Amino acid sequence: PNLGNILNLYDFEKLASKILSNQAWAYYSSGSDDEISMRENHNAFHRIFFKPRILVDVSEVNLETEMLGEKVDLPFYITATALMKLGNPQEGEMGITKGCTMSPWKIPQMISTLASCSIDEIVKVKGNHPEQIQWYQLYVNSDRKITRDLVKHVENLGLKALFVTVDAPSLGHREKDLKIKFSNQNNGPQVMSDHESNSEGASQGATRAISKFIDPSLTWDDISKLHKLTHLPIIIKGVQRSEDVVKAAQVGCAGVVISNHGGRQLDFSRAPVEILAEAKPKLVAKGLDKKFDIFIDGGIRRSTDILKALCLGAKGVGLGRPFIYANSCYGEQGVAHAIKLLKEELEMDMRLLGATSIKDLGPEFLDMSALKNR
Ligand code: FNR
Repeated sequence: PNLGNILNLYDFEKLASKILSNQAWAYYSSGSDDEISMRENHNAFHRIFFKPRILVDVSEVNLETEMLGEKVDLPFYITATALMKLGNPQEGEMGITKGCTMSPWKIPQMISTLASCSIDEIVKVKGNHPEQIQWYQLYVNSDRKITRDLVKHVENLGLKALFVTVDAPSLGHREKDLKIKFSNQNNGPQVMSDHESNSEGASQGATRAISKFIDPSLTWDDISKLHKLTHLPIIIKGVQRSEDVVKAAQVGCAGVVISNHGGRQLDFSRAPVEILAEAKPKLVAKGLDKKFDIFIDGGIRRSTDILKALCLGAKGVGLGRPFIYANSCYGEQGVAHAIKLLKEELEMDMRLLGATSIKDLGPEFLDMSALKNR
């Protein structure tokens, strides 16, 4: 269908389910085990309601904000997802970059360690758009020299932050994906050697093929070592309890992403928005909320989801699958269109909420009783 008929982010998903290869659809759409957390990511948002303010002059609405101290046009970013060439064999992750640079409203792109394009290609395709923010998502390798070289390399390439993923010491049991054999036809992660990606991958689904890249022995000590290695801000991705949010701030991280990896890791892990509601007040009570950004991801599809997270104190939110599907179905045009759809939803919903700028948002706009009483 014409891109104009794509009215919201779910429309990309519906289309992707029809046109993607079985392998790509299985890898992208699956959650772990019974997919309880994957559904809960949505359901938790559905239990939060709004308390709009009336008779506010909302003729001008400003959606600009800051993430990690840098100005962005909209309060969301495209999060790291691996293997984008499964759905867009020509462009892979470069389709996301091009869509971001094409969009009049600039949002950050987080690039996965397991991208199917090389990091150099993805940075280069920005062309003359230095304002386009790119972040790096780091999976720490068992061979720390590989990780050290990688970090130095992304630092030199001008990426702005390091998001260290910590919720995947072992990759979740995603059964849709396990049923399909992974064939690496140049779509596998560029960071792995052919030997690594072919040896185990061929018979066990995309997830198993990439899981051996990730070191399960990672601890807080490694986070301190990373701080010594790089001047880039370090954000821990995959935090799932408020105690760890506080700890990340205490050890000098620039932020956290509260996330259950889109429901692909431990099933029955809680919805990020619910953890955010607990963690933010604790951080504030300890005076640790200055210069420390909380992000969340998982299940965000509508501007109302984004606004709920911002009201609860998130600096920004990440979207994964919707942009994979937009990029797979329509390439860069789809990515730019997805950004525009959310921008338009945000503008309208801010007006209806009675807020004119992101800093106006706060918990007083929310009725959390249904979430608390679940
Ligand atoms: C992911 N995610 C992920 N996270 C990460 O840190 N490194 C990675 O390589 C990947 N790869 C990946 C692949 C696919 C297909 C998906 C769906 C997800 C997790 C991702 O960053 C994010 O946490 C979730 O995608 C957020 O949930 P939604 O927006 O997809 O519901």
